[in-house]
Amino acid sequence: MPEIYKNIVSPFLYKQDSETWHTRAREALHLAEANPLTLWLLEKIATYKSERFYDERLNVVIGGVEFDNPLIVGAGWDKQGRAVRGLHQLGFSGVEVGSVLAYPQEGNPKPRQWMLTPGIAMNRLGFNSPGAEVVARNLRRYERDGIPVGISIGKNKDVPDIEAPGVHALVAEKLYDQAAYFVINVSSPNTPGLRKLQDKEPLTDIVQAVNGVMDVKGCRKPLFVKIAPDLTSTSVDDVIDVVLNNGLTGIIATNTTNSGDIKERYGRSANEMGGISGDDQEYRDMATAKVAHIRRVAGDSLEIIGVGGIKDTATALEKIKAGARAIQVVTAIRGEGPSVAAKINRGLVEYMQQEGISHINDLVGLDVDR
Ligand SMILES: Cc1cc2nc3c(=O)[nH]c(=O)nc-3n(C[C@H](O)[C@H](O)[C@H](O)COP(=O)(O)O)c2cc1C
Repeated sequence: MPEIYKNIVSPFLYKQDSETWHTRAREALHLAEANPLTLWLLEKIATYKSERFYDERLNVVIGGVEFDNPLIVGAGWDKQGRAVRGLHQLGFSGVEVGSVLAYPQEGNPKPRQWMLTPGIAMNRLGFNSPGAEVVARNLRRYERDGIPVGISIGKNKDVPDIEAPGVHALVAEKLYDQAAYFVINVSSPNTPGLRKLQDKEPLTDIVQAVNGVMDVKGCRKPLFVKIAPDLTSTSVDDVIDVVLNNGLTGIIATNTTNSGDIKERYGRSANEMGGISGDDQEYRDMATAKVAHIRRVAGDSLEIIGVGGIKDTATALEKIKAGARAIQVVTAIRGEGPSVAAKINRGLVEYMQQEGISHINDLVGLDVDR
């Protein structure tokens, strides 16, 4: 199946409009997940085994949330919350939905999403979102599934920075019942000025507003901040301070990169708007370096979710050994195909068996701590 996907399906898809394919794939999963037979077939196709891969050596707990395995679908794949069960069936333990905005927003003009090579993407979607109310309605369908759903929160473009805390809190309020955890996403390169909100003061205001809403609801759910790979070490240290000083759970590292050099490598212009993701070694290393830096500075006083260029067992292990307890995949679902999660999970267990490691937790931060 991986060979059929990579040799036949992927070259065909590569010629198609990336966003159109993406929407079709999501809607196909949405249809498949509604019926037990198609759901079972989906699992067969993805894992070519009769049952969903499960091994308790891969169980991880983050901020009190239990995940079957460390692989979560990263934000951006299912912005609307329409394919959570289908994605779970492919072997992911959870899905980060979003980024979700307080109000509906169209995003940037199309085309705005490209596969630069079969494994590398560029997007400038600009936070297209049906808005928090629609996403909450979509997610109610999964309430009894027990699949951990993270909610990534973004800010509408025309909301001034001063109102950013309020709109982030509004999304948390509307999606409180559906969320296993929340993420503040102020690291998208596609909303002008957004990344300034990663600075200490505005970020503190936002996290306090979201914590405030959760206090009113009665209980704080795990809260993360997602950072850009392009931040300086000093800026990452500021984010670490905000996370520790406000009792947050951790950091998701990283979002897409704005690097002009990487864009030029694939024939794009250095200063055009768009974030690069996927199978570029330099990008992957930037993201891994951020994970390792956070681990070095904060030890295990916060949790790290690693994301950026993960496509197989080796690239998953890099992030875990740099300090990530969980990892996310987005672009490789397209690049490697629907069996990517199942393959990585099996690969992790095989690696642990070879190395005599009894639980995935024993690998977290191994390269940094020694
Ligand atoms: C098409 C697309 C849309 C994305 N949308 C979001 C988003 O809305 N919010 C967010 O936090 N990250 C978003 N991302 C970033 C991913 O969550 C992830 O951080 C990044 O793609 C790196 O992971 P990857 O190399 O596995 O793709 C998006 C990525 C892609 C490719």
